[in-house]
Parts: sequence; C-alpha cells; structure tokens
Amino acid sequence: MRPDGFREAPVAIVGGSGFIGSNLADSLLSDGVPVLVIDNLSRPGVDQNLAWLAQKHGNQLAVETADVRDEDVLAPLLAHARAIFHLAAQTAVTT
Ligand SMILES: NC(=O)c1ccc[n+]([C@@H]2O[C@H](COP(=O)([O-])OP(=O)(O)OC[C@H]3O[C@@H](n4cnc5c(N)ncnc54)[C@H](O)[C@@H]3O)[C@@H](O)[C@H]2O)c1
Repeated sequence: MRPDGFREAPVAIVGGSGFIGSNLADSLLSDGVPVLVIDNLSRPGVDQNLAWLAQKHGNQLAVETADVRDEDVLAPLLAHARAIFHLAAQTAVTT
C-alpha cells in the first residue's frame, strides 16, 4: 500500500512512534522523505510522539497501528517501502 498523497515510496519505520523511531522519522521528513510509521502503540505515551510528528510534518507522514508480528498486515504495507527500519521492541529491562 502506498499511503494516499505520497508522490514516492515512503521509508517505513516499524516502532516509529518510539524514542529512536520518532526522531528518525523527524529527520527523514525534514529532508522531504515521506515516512510510514507502523507501531502498535504498546509503550505508554508514544502517541505523543506521533502527535508531534503529525503537527510538524502533516501529510508527508502516514501511520498504521499494527503489531510487528502480524505478517498479514505488515507484508502489504512494507511491499512498496523504499527502505525499512525495524525498531519495534519491548525495551524496559524490568519488564
Ligand atoms: N534508546 C536507546 O538508547 C537504545 C540503545 C540501544 C538500542 N536500542 C534499541 O533500539 C530499539 C528502539 O528503542 P527505543 O528507545 O526507540 O524504544 P521505544 O520503547 O521508545 O520504542 C519502541 C517502539 O516500538 C513499539 N512496539 C513495541 N512492541 C511492538 C510490536 N510488537 N509491534 C509494533 N510496535 C511495537 C512501541 O510502541 C514503541 O513505540 C529497541 O530495539 C532498543 O532495544 C535503543
């Protein structure tokens, strides 16, 4: 799937709502590269990162709420990506 309005294939960032992913997205978007964020929003508060990205970059950002383990959802989303970064993880050592 190519998100509506994109003139070129996006860079897909799985876990793109997180700390590293959202800053990577911001950097790419600031360079004019469309970005597709895929994230299940499982870490509390990461929706705030998405809100910041959407406010700053508007329609150059597409977001899909999905789990990285859901192949049926991810495969078509990633098929047309120009590059894929995988940063989705449960990162809390205590958990
Ligand atoms: N932050 C660091 O200093 C650092 C250092 C070394 C390595 N890393 C690694 O980089 C990666 C990203 O780290 P971060 O600090 O951005 O973490 P983060 O917790 O901020 O971001 C991870 C994102 O992945 C999402 N996620 C978790 N499980 C998911 C799933 N099953 N499907 C889809 N999305 C899911 C979360 O909602 C979150 O938005 C991790 O693998 C981490 O171990 C981070």
